[in-house]
Amino acid sequence: MATDPVPRTPRLPAFPPGFLWGVSTSAHQIEGAAEEREPSVWDRFSAEPGRIRDGSTAAVACDHYHRYREDVALLAGLGVDAYRFSVSWPRVNSPGGLDFYDRLVDELCAAGIRPVVTLFHWDLPLGLDWLERETAERFARHVSVVVERLGDRVRSWITLNEPAEHTLLGHALGVHAPGRQLMFDALPVAHHQLLAHGLAVRALRAAGAADIGIANSHGPAWPASPEQADTEAAGLYDLLLNRLFADPVLLGRYPEGLGESMPGDVEADLKVIAEPVDWYGVNYYAPTRVGAPRGADSEFGGVTLPAGLPFTVRQIEDVPVTDSGWPVVPEGLTELLTAFRDRYGDRLPPVVVTENGCSGDGLDDRERIAYLDAHIRALHRALRAGVDVRGYFVWSLLDNFEWAEGYARRFGLVHVDFATQRRTPKASYRWYRDLLRAQRQPAGPTG
Ligand code: BGC
Repeated sequence: MATDPVPRTPRLPAFPPGFLWGVSTSAHQIEGAAEEREPSVWDRFSAEPGRIRDGSTAAVACDHYHRYREDVALLAGLGVDAYRFSVSWPRVNSPGGLDFYDRLVDELCAAGIRPVVTLFHWDLPLGLDWLERETAERFARHVSVVVERLGDRVRSWITLNEPAEHTLLGHALGVHAPGRQLMFDALPVAHHQLLAHGLAVRALRAAGAADIGIANSHGPAWPASPEQADTEAAGLYDLLLNRLFADPVLLGRYPEGLGESMPGDVEADLKVIAEPVDWYGVNYYAPTRVGAPRGADSEFGGVTLPAGLPFTVRQIEDVPVTDSGWPVVPEGLTELLTAFRDRYGDRLPPVVVTENGCSGDGLDDRERIAYLDAHIRALHRALRAGVDVRGYFVWSLLDNFEWAEGYARRFGLVHVDFATQRRTPKASYRWYRDLLRAQRQPAGPTG
């Protein structure tokens, strides 16, 4: 990544009063204490040789299960309004599992930090399968159990994290758990997760919840050239990454042609899937340059896309890249959000950026500061362009188990020494803390 000098004191435009500033994590990536819960598909996947880049597992991870008090103190020091974390379904299924989230929520409330709870972030209990419709129904029951226990203190809920990635990486390409390579036969996995989302919204509403969203991963799909073959390929990519997951939730229909690939009574299910949400969560990392197939594999942020796909991913030239090889394109966030506003109009509820961040090593992480600074400015441009954005969450609080990359990629504002579990705030932690302080000054920051 570029190492241009970056401002050490955040001088960013003022966001509206009440704008929610936060950080995000997920259960499987930080909790550890694997022996105190049932196994998930990720435990089995990680145990298979060659699946995880450094051969690691999340059995201990950041040991957050035992060190959550220290981690809440780090959140308090950062001064965030909100903390997005996920509850582990396998832990909730285990005796005493919910007690942990009880303690965590109490600790957050005592620190004045709003808990924002994700109900599924990829760690499906082993034995369940998103190819089965029943998994959606079981998820709704799981949601009812969680909201019954935590709903007196938790106001904000996220049904699912990134069903697109879980479908694509986990079930189409097989590079995430459960490791299936179904290609387009993975579409029912998307449908059942979307159905699970709708059923979860109903379960949450039935329990009185009034602040419900979903966290979908989205990004602009840029054609490799103006040639028709490339624009068509980019259109298809946009359909699969963006519209497949946003259209059913926001418009109550699948984009053209996709409904026929879905199982069951799709029309009836779409009514459930389109249960109104209170806000729409967007996880943004980068746009994708997409071209027509070239009869050969292509490479995308460390993932090999097989030649058989109807598109290839190309390099975005002349931009910095993170150590994961992801392009750094902040204006893609403005473009994405304004395009969503244009595409969905008044069907788009207020937007919250539920994840944004980058990987990179070192405690003096200027690249991360530059990334966050530029993306928060890009977000402000979307706000000025009239997109109703209500919050922004950095991914992530801690360095953690980065799925198939193991511990090789560090996304945290706080460095974790995985041998000693020592936490050390990075320069970006202090930068974000100062940004939040400046945003709260009555006159607002300038910049
Ligand atoms: C996921 C996180 C992940 C992050 C960085 C998102 O796709 O929700 O779990 O760690 O991206 O790869």
